[in-house]
Amino acid sequence: MKSMLNIALPKGRLGEKVYAMFEAAGYACPALKEQNRKLIFENEETGVRYFWAKPSDVSIYVERGAADIGVAGKDILLEYSPDVYELLDLDMGKCRMCVAGPADFRDDPARTLRVATKFPNIAKTYYAAQSREIDIIKMNGSIELAPIVGLSDVIVDIVETGKTLKENGLAPLQEIVPISARLIANKARFKFRSEEIRTLTARIDRMMKEGK
Ligand code: PRP
Repeated sequence: MKSMLNIALPKGRLGEKVYAMFEAAGYACPALKEQNRKLIFENEETGVRYFWAKPSDVSIYVERGAADIGVAGKDILLEYSPDVYELLDLDMGKCRMCVAGPADFRDDPARTLRVATKFPNIAKTYYAAQSREIDIIKMNGSIELAPIVGLSDVIVDIVETGKTLKENGLAPLQEIVPISARLIANKARFKFRSEEIRTLTARIDRMMKEGK
């Protein structure tokens, strides 16, 4: 019997939207819609097994081959550079990686810039390209707090609606890169299951182009 295609999805609202797309493309798994706390679901008829992974962990499952394919944000791919194939931009989960801080912030090049972020590699690459000396303060969440209480001068973070910044008296200062969800594949599994993965990618690509 043929083995299942293992698909790691980001748990949460984005994952649910992505699943709806996969379902419409012919990869349904009705059990996934049951309201429970299970993390793994399969459908023998369509040959798929879905995992709900923490969004920032999807690329780890895929890189190590525990999942054949998955959906991860470009932010995670840029930050961790997992050794995976990026197959498709799903045009979902769109946001921007930005430098943000007080709207009137003026950078003083004579001082080391203190940057709070969950994305130290993205921040380092961005400032290295400008030869700007920075002090990275690695945080795990609620990054907007850092400049307000004087822990950092600016932050490098995701801005989606801009509401969090606004409600905390901050503003986007520079855009670093646009972000969206990407379909990724394990490199060895992509060779082994090439036809299946190419078919899935093509179906989803077609659906997106047809605006479904
Ligand atoms: C993200 C990001 C911002 C917020 C941006 O945080 O770090 O705080 O969303 O969204 P907005 O522009 O629509 O307000 P997340 O919800 O992932 O929580 P976190 O504080 O744990 O990073």
